[in-house]
Amino acid sequence: MIRLAPSLLSADFAKLGEDVAKVERGGAHLLHIDVMDGHFVPNISFGAIVMKSLLGKTTLPFDVHLMIESPDAFIPDFVTENTEFITVHAEAGDHLERTIQFIKSFGIKAGVSLNPATPPSVLEYIFEELDQVLVMSVNPGFGGQKYIASSTEKIRWLFAEKQRRNPGLTIAVDGGITLKNARQVADAGADLIVAGSAVFCADDIEARVKEFLAILK
Ligand code: DX5
Ligand code: ZN
Repeated sequence: MIRLAPSLLSADFAKLGEDVAKVERGGAHLLHIDVMDGHFVPNISFGAIVMKSLLGKTTLPFDVHLMIESPDAFIPDFVTENTEFITVHAEAGDHLERTIQFIKSFGIKAGVSLNPATPPSVLEYIFEELDQVLVMSVNPGFGGQKYIASSTEKIRWLFAEKQRRNPGLTIAVDGGITLKNARQVADAGADLIVAGSAVFCADDIEARVKEFLAILK
């Protein structure tokens, strides 16, 4: 099954609980939580306090995407009863294998995200250890950018590698996904589709989630 994770980054922060309830009613599978530190990416979003304000208000699992330098010190803050994945960037500085094991030590699934310019071969040495690879299909930092076409080839490469070495891996794709290209991204091998502006900027958010799910079925 292909799962949909609307990205909170494009939600209305003055009505966060209401927006989350809308995507939940629409049938979204997870909530994608974009954490930005103003160093790793040229933008600051929100941290664990905002994410935790949703605890008890939604049953959706959290797919935490840490776009922060040296993430190890902050990982424990994002461990909650809703957290399914914590994903760090391959480019973010800490020793990746150690960080992956650290995330897993909390009983949380561990992911690594790749910027558009990073080849998937950087994951060779830890491929079997990963629960998720998050393919950035835009340069991270902002919602509402255009899908970078070469991402599709990266997804195909990961899908082939997954069959061989890690069949349980979740291949997630994040950035510029719309109703128009979601099917193509899924066909390339994605298991988890992240969509921010295409979901939360819709006039009817709940209906938009349903449109995505119909395409991904
Ligand atoms: C970008 C974030 C994405 C972003 C996606 O840095 O990691 O999750 O919210 O937004 P859209 O779907 O609008 O490209
Ligand atoms: Zn993201």
